[in-house]
Amino acid sequence: MLACDSMLKKLSILSKDEIELMKKSCRLAARTLEHVKPYVKAGITTNEIDQIIHDYILSHGATPSPLGYHGYPKSSCTSVNSVVCHGVPDETLLREGDIINVDVTTFYQGFHGDTSATFMVGAVSDKARDITQVAFDCMMKGIEAIVPFGTTGDIGFAIDKYATRKGYTTVKDIGGHGIGRIFHDEPFIPSYGKKGKGPSLVPWRCFTVEPMVNETSASLEEYDIPHSSIKWYKTEDNTLSAQFEHTVLVTDTGYEILTVPS
Ligand code: MF3
Ligand code: CO
Ligand code: CO
Repeated sequence: MLACDSMLKKLSILSKDEIELMKKSCRLAARTLEHVKPYVKAGITTNEIDQIIHDYILSHGATPSPLGYHGYPKSSCTSVNSVVCHGVPDETLLREGDIINVDVTTFYQGFHGDTSATFMVGAVSDKARDITQVAFDCMMKGIEAIVPFGTTGDIGFAIDKYATRKGYTTVKDIGGHGIGRIFHDEPFIPSYGKKGKGPSLVPWRCFTVEPMVNETSASLEEYDIPHSSIKWYKTEDNTLSAQFEHTVLVTDTGYEILTVPS
């Protein structure tokens, strides 16, 4: 592909029809997450969670974006406790007290919809409950900072300010992304930053807000996934990490969260 083609693709805004398709894909992603939630209980394996997600997406005429993406072997990511992101479903059994981020991305009629939530398995520690709540609140603070022609730095600033105030740290090297016909597009949406800095938030384009919130400032350990260029990450000191993700549309007056079930 010519450089100018990819530039045009990245800079183009969505038409009314494209927005409708994007909304459908995002709604399916949200419904998938809602569908799998009651299964996220002690005794299930992350492979079984992945299979439920895979089957639900296929039965609704879509495909799971992660499957085969840069060699990624599964249909979802399941990140338990100290796993920060891109946890690969396997034979791991969930246990009471775990927290698990389940990340679902659908590809429907040419558009990707990306959403994740951290679920608590049975009764969890106060610490686990608190970091899960703070991760959700950080995502919402980031989303609420979106204004048309604002900047990615406005979002990151709001996220990091809240996390820091609550005694947590945000992951700096991994974050949200433009999304639409391309799974991971520009701009990068950081979970830290300065107000007014970074790329402009252009109306009628979509991106994700997906802060990863960590219990300590320990660095991340990076692990290879066999036959894939995707890496998975965990906290070096094995402390907790939690995350939520929505896909949002920037409008001419603000934003719309697209990864909602109805
Ligand atoms: N859904 C993840 C995100 O929020 C990306 C997963 S890529 C995969 O961006 F290959 F690991 F599935
Ligand atoms: Co994403
Ligand atoms: Co995701």
